[in-house]
Amino acid sequence: MTKTTTNAMWGGRFAAGPDAIMEAINASIGFDKRLARQDIDGSRAHAAMLAATGILSDSDVAAIRKGLLTVLSEIDEGRFEFSTALEDIHMNVEARLKEIIGDPAGRLHTARSRNDQVATDFRLWVREQCDATMAGIDALMRALVAQAEAGADWVMPGFTHLQTAQPVTWGHHMMAYVEMLARDRGRFGDARARMNESPLGAAALAGTSFPIDRHMTAAALGFERPMANSLDAVSDRDFALEYLAAASICAMHLSRFAEELVIWSSAQFRFVRLSDRFTTGSSIMPQKKNPDAAELIRAKIGRIFGANVALLMVMKGLPLAYSKDMQEDKEQVFDAADNLMLALAAMEGMVRDMTANRPALEAAAGSGFSTATDLADWLVRVLGLAFREAHHVTGSLVAMAEGLGVDLPELSLEQMQTVHPGITSDVFAVLGVHNSVASRMSYGGTAPAQVRAQIARWKELLA
Ligand code: ARG
Repeated sequence: MTKTTTNAMWGGRFAAGPDAIMEAINASIGFDKRLARQDIDGSRAHAAMLAATGILSDSDVAAIRKGLLTVLSEIDEGRFEFSTALEDIHMNVEARLKEIIGDPAGRLHTARSRNDQVATDFRLWVREQCDATMAGIDALMRALVAQAEAGADWVMPGFTHLQTAQPVTWGHHMMAYVEMLARDRGRFGDARARMNESPLGAAALAGTSFPIDRHMTAAALGFERPMANSLDAVSDRDFALEYLAAASICAMHLSRFAEELVIWSSAQFRFVRLSDRFTTGSSIMPQKKNPDAAELIRAKIGRIFGANVALLMVMKGLPLAYSKDMQEDKEQVFDAADNLMLALAAMEGMVRDMTANRPALEAAAGSGFSTATDLADWLVRVLGLAFREAHHVTGSLVAMAEGLGVDLPELSLEQMQTVHPGITSDVFAVLGVHNSVASRMSYGGTAPAQVRAQIARWKELLA
């Protein structure tokens, strides 16, 4: 089991190499190879700065920078041989650089540590992920706006407690998710802005005695500024946690919508038809068209929120500065990011492809006494009843209709007048679902005119 070769990067004080088990628990290359591009970008920026400040010679740095590009193309083309013995992406890249350019490779690590290196790489990776996520959210928002526009005035039941509450418009329902996703997008943008500071040059923890220029490397890597405290720079993973928190909330929104699609596509609801492209069949029940994509999106919150909690747990007891525990940050974030991107893309595809069943929506909109509130409001507005009294009268009318097995608009005027003699035939106008939704003109309300205003605003913002 025991390996005898000591590590070429840090093995100076070691007489023996690590046990195979030690190597297995210690190595991160299996997953942090995903940081290869960021690692090489960071090294190139660092090397350029070492030349500009005169810490390294121009010729060494030219060789380093060129060699790093060769390493990158080897990785991109799948020709690179990753080695577990070299632990992680940082040492894999450096070792290969040494094979390609020889001695100057050994100078690259001047005034730097793997601690600030990994913090930099990972920030760059998460920053990119924020951008990709925002783009994914935009695409989904566009698909929702298109659905909303097609059915801005289609009526459907609005629910509370999943019981019919009041009629709403299809467009209104779609646009509710646009608002949620817009806040999600904002959270990724906020997290991105806060994380966009460079840890590079913090070195192991204390900074360095070399005359480095951290502003130069920060600018080269697109960071706003260098992080102000070197201990903080190598210690914290709050940027990854903010990303995971934003991802969790976004996944929660996707999960709620997915749940609605599962319900809506059932034979009992038939509110939407999902396309063949985003459903699956059953191997035994030929009639089945299962909303698997929606179900899996609904489930993704589990692993994404799990990643958030896992990283919080990793971090919560760590003394400053770096501890190896922090190597456990990456897999959580990678897994959450992969699954969030997949969920966003699948949701976008489903939304683009789905067909709302307008007649079914309309039929359901009028059932379940959905305009009872309109009736109560009419009693207040026209007959001058106190709302509590109106609520009571309406309740009696609903009970009467329920007893007769009809909906509210199917009661006759005479029947209604037995409950309240003041009711006139004008009441029938407010019992219709179209009038009901059209009347809800308060700002942000479900009236088609309000919904169209929301759609117009978002179309402009998303253009
Ligand atoms: N693979 C390590 C990680 O991901 C890199 C930093 C290692 N630093 C150290 N001092 N051992 O955290």
